[in-house]
Amino acid sequence: MADKAQLSYDGRTYEMQIVEGTEHERAIDISHLRADTGLITLDDGYANTGSCKSGITFIHGEQGILRHRGYPIEQLAEQSTFLEVAYLVIFGELPTRAQLDEFRGRVIESLALPVGMAAGFEGFPKDAHPMAILSAMINAAGQYEPFEMTPANLDKLPEAAARLMGRVAAIAAKTYRRSIGQPFVEHRSDRDYAENFLHMLFSRPGAEFSTHPTIAKALDMLFILHADHEQNCSTSTVRMVGSSQANLFASVAAGVCALWGPLHGGANQRVIEMLQQIHDSGQSPERYLERVKSDPGVRLMGFGHRVYKNYDPRARLIKSHCDEVLKVLGRDDPLLHIAERLEQAALKDEYFVERRLYPNVDFYSGIILRAIGIPVNMFTVMFAIGRTPGWIANWYEVHRNPRARIYRPRQIYVGPAKRDYVPIEQRG
Ligand code: SDX
Repeated sequence: MADKAQLSYDGRTYEMQIVEGTEHERAIDISHLRADTGLITLDDGYANTGSCKSGITFIHGEQGILRHRGYPIEQLAEQSTFLEVAYLVIFGELPTRAQLDEFRGRVIESLALPVGMAAGFEGFPKDAHPMAILSAMINAAGQYEPFEMTPANLDKLPEAAARLMGRVAAIAAKTYRRSIGQPFVEHRSDRDYAENFLHMLFSRPGAEFSTHPTIAKALDMLFILHADHEQNCSTSTVRMVGSSQANLFASVAAGVCALWGPLHGGANQRVIEMLQQIHDSGQSPERYLERVKSDPGVRLMGFGHRVYKNYDPRARLIKSHCDEVLKVLGRDDPLLHIAERLEQAALKDEYFVERRLYPNVDFYSGIILRAIGIPVNMFTVMFAIGRTPGWIANWYEVHRNPRARIYRPRQIYVGPAKRDYVPIEQRG
């Protein structure tokens, strides 16, 4: 295949280098385009634009492939643990036992929030959305750090990364406990991450929450499946904010806000609300699909993806664990049956087939979270906990690039042409 592309413009021909990735995806390097031609590119939603070279995650949208540092998500989900995958995503290699033990120890001890942070939670209404609190309190946690995690301190990233992962889970747990009027539950040093999180959510004074191994494993797997996903909206936000050399905690706090949107991580909450609405209204799933197809304002939440034009491998893995979790809990969730009927109907429906719309990571995740007892308004916080190592890894990657530059896209201006100021007395 050619290693150069040519652009013919205004009577001249310009050559641009083709860049090829590990998995043979190819890009036109346009880093000299404006200097050579005076042109910029325009790409709505960046659908055709690579923002960086990255060695963290590979996705093949047509084949439904997802790998972290070369390891297939199916193998990581079935054989690894969230803290091990977090280490892999952040540092690039699977840890030795000693490395994992040290990393785990730092993360678990960071589940204890600095005492001074408690007052920060009180600034929020009791019914504040947990994502608002999470973003704000991550920034607060950053102010309790012994050093500011900026590119000047990159050698201290391992310490800051572990602490941030602990803080995110602890803030989430405290947010939930405050919303139900219960005191914060301290972590247990003898519990792993997911199990500790459930303990901090659901234990009562004198009534220790005992987590069934299947439930703890299901939550740990959910965190693994959310760990990273190349240049999605929130990760690109973290890289954008980090590129200005803002500290790690501030950059991740910005990522939380981007994730909150219903088109992105907020979709997992909207999926359950959609299924509940279908259930409560008594309308058939098939009837709901007709509304989706006829009303541009109605979407099948949890379906569709900018990159996956095939089944999201994470959705397949999550769905396979739904039945197992519900069986252990002795539950039968009518919303799961509605979701399955929606999927079966959509996958045979021309509207969805021609647009290559398949279930994404958010379509079934809420079924498991709901079965575990996580409230719906905490679902996107759960996504953020899982995605934190991916955000950290991308922030770290931005600054390990010796030629790191601030992210600053260009634009095509389409506003009014030059005009003179009109004093207010002369305005209509
Ligand atoms: C995540 O990027 C990532 O990697 C994200 C993520 C991660 O791990 O970080 O995977 C997590 O955010 C998953 C996506 C969660 N969002 C949802 O489930 C919300 C519902 N889905 C969509 O709104 C939509 O599919 C997006 C936002 C996910 C993707 O949007 P695109 O790529 O901009 O696609 P589009 O809006 O241009 O849609 C193309 C066509 C349109 O129809 P036409 O104008 O061609 O007639 O497909 C239609 C859309 O109307 N369409 C849908 C639909 N998604 C797209 N129609 C009905 N229901 C949907 N869900």
